[in-house]
Amino acid sequence: MDDIKIGLVGLGTVGSSVLKMITENQDKVQNITGRRLNVKTIVVRNIAKHQDQVPENVKLTTELADIVNDPEIKIVVEVMGGLHPAKEVITQLLNAKKHVVTANKDLIASAGEELAALARANHCDLMYEASVAGGIPILRTIVTSFAADHITEVKGIVNGTTNYILTQMQRRNWTYDQALMKAQELGFAESDPTNDVEGIDAAYKMVILSQFSYGTHIKLANMKVEGISAIQQRDVLQADAFGYTIKLLGISRRINGGVFAEVGPVLVPKDHPLATINNENNAVMVTGEAVGETLFYGPGAGGLPTANSVLSDIVSVTKNIVLGTTGNSFNNYQSDIGRVDPND
Ligand code: HSE
Repeated sequence: MDDIKIGLVGLGTVGSSVLKMITENQDKVQNITGRRLNVKTIVVRNIAKHQDQVPENVKLTTELADIVNDPEIKIVVEVMGGLHPAKEVITQLLNAKKHVVTANKDLIASAGEELAALARANHCDLMYEASVAGGIPILRTIVTSFAADHITEVKGIVNGTTNYILTQMQRRNWTYDQALMKAQELGFAESDPTNDVEGIDAAYKMVILSQFSYGTHIKLANMKVEGISAIQQRDVLQADAFGYTIKLLGISRRINGGVFAEVGPVLVPKDHPLATINNENNAVMVTGEAVGETLFYGPGAGGLPTANSVLSDIVSVTKNIVLGTTGNSFNNYQSDIGRVDPND
């Protein structure tokens, strides 16, 4: 059987971890799918900067056309992030009938439905498990394990950078700036951390979680979104003295036939499970009418945990290629329920 040839767009923290996992975990993937994975081409901005990072048989290029026009490449992983040019890149890839795996929450929250329709029209898969809560397999879990239950609420800690900052301010007495710098060094923060600290990254993830949970698209503009940039060390320490931990929470619930969603800092009692989620870890509580309250916990940011979610998508797409069942992606964007923004 031929290898599945893969293209990568971006080789930062997540991209290099994806390359490492594909290289090192071949045997397991082959056992599951019957095919080996082979990274053929990587698009980067600066070839010289990345030359030492890649094996000799992998082509480094600055030209997306080297992937788009290569009929051998079947799956492309987009890990450049941001809205533009990522949207144009994914559009070109889908139109060239490449299956796309992305970690891009900004783009999926803003244009997921449009891109999923384009993927379907081209009989391609578009998968993005890594876009929400890094290493926690939450989207797949909602699609499969909550398939028949009615979800009434999704809430949790869905940004690793801010959770890391708040944890260090409380535990180590670090200042906000010290903790943010360390989160950037550790590769948790976005290249411009504004979206992390202002709650926008978490809001994007709540948009995607709400879509998956209720089949309802919420516009970011209609959510109340507040970050942690105004929180000072004394706020964290005073909350601690009163028995609370400050956490940046995303909350989305069904109310009166609609959906309410917001992101903001919350005083969480120390005996609540969400108060115990520290550092870059995330946790998502999903409440279903039948199952009741469930909690999913794990690393929400960082190279290898996020790469693991990307790999889970690559394996799904590879299985679909082998079975001839591509074009399905995550099914929720095909839902025709809840087309109206309930926050309007
Ligand atoms: N900057 C993001 C975070 C990365 O800190 O959660 C994972 O989406």
